[in-house]
Amino acid sequence: MKIIVVGANGTIGTAVSKELESNGHEVVKVGRNSGDYQMDMTNIEDIKLMFEQIKEVDAVISTAGAANFDDLSELTPESNEVAVMSKLLGQINLVLIGQHYINEGGSFTLTTGVIMDDPIKGGVSSAMAGGGINAFVQSAAYELKRNLRINNVSPNVIEEALEDYGDFFKGYTAVPASKAAKAYLKSVEGIQTGQTYRVYE
Ligand SMILES: NC(=O)c1ccc[n+]([C@@H]2O[C@H](COP(=O)([O-])OP(=O)(O)OC[C@H]3O[C@@H](n4cnc5c(N)ncnc54)[C@H](OP(=O)(O)O)[C@@H]3O)[C@@H](O)[C@H]2O)c1
Repeated sequence: MKIIVVGANGTIGTAVSKELESNGHEVVKVGRNSGDYQMDMTNIEDIKLMFEQIKEVDAVISTAGAANFDDLSELTPESNEVAVMSKLLGQINLVLIGQHYINEGGSFTLTTGVIMDDPIKGGVSSAMAGGGINAFVQSAAYELKRNLRINNVSPNVIEEALEDYGDFFKGYTAVPASKAAKAYLKSVEGIQTGQTYRVYE
């Protein structure tokens, strides 16, 4: 399959791209500044242009999506907008626009994260976005046309990211990116839709 991975150069995206390639798929690596194709998923015109320029796509995976990690008392409407525009709407807009472009029987796989189920201090903005994606996926699965499917993967903190995020996730069971990557492969190659694949241990 020809698969767009938005965020392919990141911690999770690198492992996902490797897993897909080792299973014979063609991966088009997309990032803001990295990869085969550059675009910013917070920009609707950028997303449209990407789907017009990258043709005959069978699946879209997003392993991208920013959020601020501020305590609730310090979170402002403005700082919360990072998660709204990127992790929430950026990923959702990939689907709203991409549904009209990708091949029949194709799929979307978005990324959420453990903190939507198991809160951490400072995680409220990212959890909000994850919960929104989760609910979007469940509902959209019923309405997607042309046998398109949609799922999301919710990884625990990733082993390779512990240096950056370890202090936020004391007591959590970190998972290797390669393990999370299997859930994305399952989403792309399997038959399921509307699912949340929780990779928590
Ligand atoms: N790391 C973890 O432990 C963990 C655990 C659970 C869930 N998650 C979630 O998984 C997602 C990815 O995490 P990660 O740690 O793999 O991230 P990462 O290493 O920071 O990589 C993010 C990737 O996404 C791309 N990107 C970011 N914003 C973008 C935008 N607006 N448009 C297009 N591409 C964009 C970046 O491209 P450039 O490099 O070109 O800028 C980069 O390739 C995040 O939503 C995160 O919350 C992460």
